[in-house]
Amino acid sequence: MLAKQKTCIYLALLSFLSTNEALRILVSFPLPSPSHSLLGKGVVKHLLAAGHEVVYITSFPEGRTNPNLTEVSVAPLKNRIEEQYKDERIKIKQLVGKGNWGDSIVFSYFTYMYHKSFLEDYNVTEFLSDPKQKFDVVLLEWFFFDAIAGIAPLFQCPLIWIGSTEAHWQILRLIDEIPNPAYNLDLFSTRKVPFSFWERIAELYMLVKKYIIKYVIFGLFERRIYHNVYSSIAKKRGINMPPYDETVFNASLVLLNSHPSMGTPFRLTQNVKYIGGYHIEEKVQPLPTDLLKLMNNAKHGVIYFSMGSNLKSIDMSDDMKSSLLAMFSKLKQDVIWKFEGDLEHLPANVHLVKWAPQQGILAHPNLRIFITHGGQLSTAEAIHFGVPIIGIPVLGDQYVNMRSTVDKGFGIGVDLTENIASDLIIAIEEMLANPRYNIRAKEISAIYHDRPVSPGRELVHWVRHVASTRGAAHLRSPALHVPCYQKYYLDLIGVFVATTALIIILARKFKQSSNIVKKKKTN
Ligand SMILES: *[C@@H]1O[C@H](CO)[C@@H](O)[C@H](O)[C@H]1NC(C)=O
Ligand SMILES: *[C@@H]1O[C@H](CO)[C@@H](O)[C@H](O)[C@H]1NC(C)=O
Ligand SMILES: *[C@@H]1O[C@H](CO)[C@@H](O)[C@H](O)[C@H]1NC(C)=O
Repeated sequence: MLAKQKTCIYLALLSFLSTNEALRILVSFPLPSPSHSLLGKGVVKHLLAAGHEVVYITSFPEGRTNPNLTEVSVAPLKNRIEEQYKDERIKIKQLVGKGNWGDSIVFSYFTYMYHKSFLEDYNVTEFLSDPKQKFDVVLLEWFFFDAIAGIAPLFQCPLIWIGSTEAHWQILRLIDEIPNPAYNLDLFSTRKVPFSFWERIAELYMLVKKYIIKYVIFGLFERRIYHNVYSSIAKKRGINMPPYDETVFNASLVLLNSHPSMGTPFRLTQNVKYIGGYHIEEKVQPLPTDLLKLMNNAKHGVIYFSMGSNLKSIDMSDDMKSSLLAMFSKLKQDVIWKFEGDLEHLPANVHLVKWAPQQGILAHPNLRIFITHGGQLSTAEAIHFGVPIIGIPVLGDQYVNMRSTVDKGFGIGVDLTENIASDLIIAIEEMLANPRYNIRAKEISAIYHDRPVSPGRELVHWVRHVASTRGAAHLRSPALHVPCYQKYYLDLIGVFVATTALIIILARKFKQSSNIVKKKKTN
């Protein structure tokens, strides 16, 4: 080979895997939820810090904070939806004693309806149609709506899904196959592995039911949106949309906001990477002076109580609020309660905050217990800072998260009931008296931190890897396009059954004819 040719090939290879090129990346986290937007912000922060250019679709725009960042705001859409559904806001009061709300058809309808409005939003379609917009890779938050994948072929670039939770079948089916429900929990399950006989049936039933609702019934609507919305945008960009199934099952990578220290040791394919905890600041912001003083001076330690950003403590019934206050007042510890209003007759050791710098509070050495709804972000933060948890799961993946913290030995679960105060005090006293929860929290935290690289670096690495290898086809699961009948050897069983049937028939025929011959002979 000529030396010149060799150099050419070498240079081409170099550019194929060149790691320092600045990429142009689309990051989309359109959900109208503060916790999801925290996750989006975390992704953007790491990509910008690595020198890439980012266009960020968000419901919570913060203005141009970096010359390499452009925001596409869907805040007006968020406000419109909030106004339209303000009477249907999920309130703690209504969730008392209910099962997992996330498992309902209302939830499926909401995710469908929101994404539909998002894809039909004027600003969004204008942005997607703009032929000047070009990307090397798109990162989309997956939230129970597959048709959003159509954004990737519009820009003819690789797709990376970001899952905000633990691994589960609904996201893994897009890149691999549906994991076996006999030992893999549904994300909204309230059970735990290993299952009893009936639980195993119940999990299978849950999967089949969801599959029919989500992928047979709502699937029809998602397909319709896919054809209606994208084809006109694609026309403006001068391209043709590929068929729905080719788009939806074509992601290069899934980044999961989880880690085995938080959840279960799921069996995953090569194109799923754990980045749980990436949203947490490497250097925690210092606490505001009043909170810092309070936490420094708390002789018996501090208990921090927050039900997250979507569920508001203010929506508890009056009885629940006053019984909680009465219970807290008997404790020696100071209690910081994230509460969106004011309360009368506040005991001296209870401090209400409308907004809580959660990571700063969890990082403080005087914090003894975190009472939480068990959302994925709060759980990750508790593990990051090694704090034991009392969890009050109410919906979505909170049950799965809570189960996991209980199993790992650093959490106690409490049901949301009207007289929750009496259950909560038992859990608090147990956790204060018994050091094993705190010791386990520190051990689990050490496991969480024991990774070759930080989750933020992991994220940047894989985004770059997907872009530089033009879709990382080498990581894809061989199971993705294998039909069921081949996976379970149903065709082989078919051949067996057919062959056996044939042998039986032939044997019968043979017997019949030999009987006739015999009869003829005897005659
Ligand atoms: C913006 O991106 C360029 C590379 O495209 C990089 O050199 C520059 O440092 C980035 N600016 C900031 C503020 O990150
Ligand atoms: C589109 O964006 C502009 C500027 O951000 C905003 O004023 C307008 O309300 C948005 N329109 C819609 C329909 O979201
Ligand atoms: C599937 O993804 C690869 C890699 O990003 C891309 O080259 C291909 O065009 C995609 N196919 C479809 C049908 O979108």
